[in-house]
Amino acid sequence: MNMVLACLIAYVLGSIPNGLVFGKLLWHVDLREHGSHNIGATNAWRTLGKGPGFLIFLLDFLKGAISVYLGMRLGDTALACVLAGVFAIVGHSCSLFLKFKGGKGVATGLGVIVMMMPVPALIVFLVWLGVVKLSGYVSLGSIIAAALVPVLAWKFGYPAEYIGFGILAAAFIIIRHHANIGRLLSGTESKIKAGHR
Ligand code: G3P
Repeated sequence: MNMVLACLIAYVLGSIPNGLVFGKLLWHVDLREHGSHNIGATNAWRTLGKGPGFLIFLLDFLKGAISVYLGMRLGDTALACVLAGVFAIVGHSCSLFLKFKGGKGVATGLGVIVMMMPVPALIVFLVWLGVVKLSGYVSLGSIIAAALVPVLAWKFGYPAEYIGFGILAAAFIIIRHHANIGRLLSGTESKIKAGHR
């Protein structure tokens, strides 16, 4: 019962579209009408600037981290943490408040893995940062970082539930980047630059 409650709260929490809400409230901008049309931190950074991008990143990250914390406190099993994390990411991408549409799950996913597997999460973040710095493509960094999660979960000896989570989350996040993959392959993906509407 507690595990179900943790998953429900994680889904509702994950569903809060921070990029959309704060973009409209604070900057009077609907992120869905600019840049990549995504409501995540990357498009907030690209469209509104570094500060807004960082704020949205932090809020989306917290949705994942708080959800896993709830899974730990309410469910107290590896499966409860994993499911709470999954529901937070799915909530972010298939939001209750946006007719089951939403973002790509990267910042929320990072919040989830920081709570579940801190050292692999740090490595994943550093790889993401390195790829973004070298290539200029946030999406490429996100795709490579997502693919790394199950590999590191296995390498660091985490339980099967965590490895299974890594495989599922990586597949989900990569599929959510299908439009980015198309643009990367055709050379039309935009490199990250802050505040260019
Ligand atoms: O976290 C999402 C990022 O990987 C891609 O964002 O706005 O370029 O589609 P965007």
